[in-house]
Amino acid sequence: MKIRLSASMLAASVVDLKGDIQQLNEACVDFMHIDIMDGHFVPNLTIGPLYVDRVRQLSKAPCDVHLMVENPERFINMFNMQAGERMCFHIEAANHPHRLVQEIKKMGIEAGIAINPGTPLCMIEELLPDIDFVHVLSVNPGFKGQPMVPQTLNKIYRLRKMIDDKGLNVDIEVDGSVQMDNIIQIVEAGATTLVLGPYTCFNKELGGIKPTLAKVKNLLATHFKSN
Ligand code: DX5
Ligand code: ZN
Repeated sequence: MKIRLSASMLAASVVDLKGDIQQLNEACVDFMHIDIMDGHFVPNLTIGPLYVDRVRQLSKAPCDVHLMVENPERFINMFNMQAGERMCFHIEAANHPHRLVQEIKKMGIEAGIAINPGTPLCMIEELLPDIDFVHVLSVNPGFKGQPMVPQTLNKIYRLRKMIDDKGLNVDIEVDGSVQMDNIIQIVEAGATTLVLGPYTCFNKELGGIKPTLAKVKNLLATHFKSN
């Protein structure tokens, strides 16, 4: 089992973006997680397509675009998405999520549905056969560095069971408060991709990006004989 690691660029340096991405390249991270916030769906704003282009130019890993926006249908075509990349939008923001999934897949990329902590899994059950990944928010979206909503582990476990019971191959990507001391539990619950932010990858106290990613990989390898 290979657990993929996606670096949350919300926590990357604004002044030395190039330096941070160089370290992420050297650490062979699997995805660059980019949060797109519109100030409506979430009470925060981030920069948009130009930033995604810049990250794409500098990075060896594909972009993992997380749309935290109202009317996601107006945003999906803004980012010049490339083969091997992925994009998700929030189930809470979409009127026609199945149609939107089809449109994202037409771009030749992976399509995912993001789900907030307070939203029940039954909201996405019918979409599972058509998507590549579920993006499970373990914090309320909008800000980095928040504590995990405790019900998340059980939710990941129930989602993994739902996916397995249907015989599907759907990745579960967990976003929010992934830390050295909960990574094992999150993966045991059923996550297969982890978004790493200020608690791990970008936590200077752990020694910097490259050494910290090596620690995460080592932890996973020791526990799961993977990575
Ligand atoms: C939350 C964003 C995250 C954020 C989570 O709104 O979607 O990607 O950076 O990372 P943590 O909780 O680890 O800061
Ligand atoms: Zn995110």
